[in-house]
Amino acid sequence: MRKPKITVIGAGNVGATTAQRLAEGHLGDIVLVDVVDGVPQGKALDLYQAAPVVHHDGLLVGTNDYDATEGSDIIVMTAGLARKPGMSRDDLQDANAKVVAECVSRAVRKSRDSIIIMVTNPLDVMCEVARRVSGFPRERVIGMAGILDTARMRAFIAMELGVSTESVFALVLGGHGDSMVPMPRYTTVSGVPLPELLPKERIDAIVQRTAQGGGEIVKLLKTGSAYYAPAAGVYEMVDSIVRDRKKILPCAVYLQGELGLKDVFVGVPAKLGAKGMEGVFELKLTAEEKALLHKSASDVAAQSAKLPVDLGTVS
Ligand code: NAI
Ligand code: 2OP
Repeated sequence: MRKPKITVIGAGNVGATTAQRLAEGHLGDIVLVDVVDGVPQGKALDLYQAAPVVHHDGLLVGTNDYDATEGSDIIVMTAGLARKPGMSRDDLQDANAKVVAECVSRAVRKSRDSIIIMVTNPLDVMCEVARRVSGFPRERVIGMAGILDTARMRAFIAMELGVSTESVFALVLGGHGDSMVPMPRYTTVSGVPLPELLPKERIDAIVQRTAQGGGEIVKLLKTGSAYYAPAAGVYEMVDSIVRDRKKILPCAVYLQGELGLKDVFVGVPAKLGAKGMEGVFELKLTAEEKALLHKSASDVAAQSAKLPVDLGTVS
């Protein structure tokens, strides 16, 4: 039986850290692609030279073209510009839509049965670019953001209560932008609902800090955005797919009527397994939660409407 083959496009902060996590998690052979000559080759070699010490045995190849990506099972797309202080994710749209369209088109020509995991921002809109360019069904174009947003909320709650992050389960729905929807009602600590553990003003502060996303990290780093936690989010998705674990994970999914939303990528709990996105986990929302989710989805739809009509397709 052959190992899963995973292509990571973009060998920058998120891409290289993702390749490291995937290799160390023994998830498969990895091809790292970047437009800058020497960077993917150097980082892949460096990661491979760590293997004898950290004990992984997958192949790691770095390249500037797509020949070595042929027959990939998963394509993780991280290429493109990252935010700088003062920028929103939407400010990246025009530049990154071109990068994503080109990379997806070149990668999919070599791997027509692959599953695309989008990471490049603005996340939900870039998922739409990948869906259109690849022509893939929605099961095979999935966005990584909900795991990151949810992990941030879990981390803030763990800090507040002085408990292990592992004991905290949280949920964040919606687009990966300013209107994301943290869900305290579906957040628990060892099964106990958060509203029973913290006063409303503390929960509101955690919700606000979560919705700020990586903005505070961009301010601290000054030169780029978060990458350790994002790479962990990609790892969890790839793990659930290649090991067919069928985890329910918050991911950007192209909705087809679920939760009253259609033809838009938005973050919802979804089952990830060998076939990719194997189903949306529909949950009951209050009128207020539903209104917030629909507002977030309409923000994504408005941004997606600004994409060029012709992004190209894979011939
Ligand atoms: P980075 O600047 O460190 O790396 C980006 C890499 O893409 C660079 O190495 C660059 O050479 C490469 N690249 C640019 N054009 C390319 C092309 N046409 N073909 C191949 N490679 C190309 O940026 P970083 O921090 O890795 O972020 C990457 C993207 O991921 C950004 O758009 C960022 O906003 C997004 N992101 C999304 C997150 C999410 O939750 N969905 C979380 C963190 C980052
Ligand atoms: C984040 O939330 C930049 O989307 C990225 O950190």
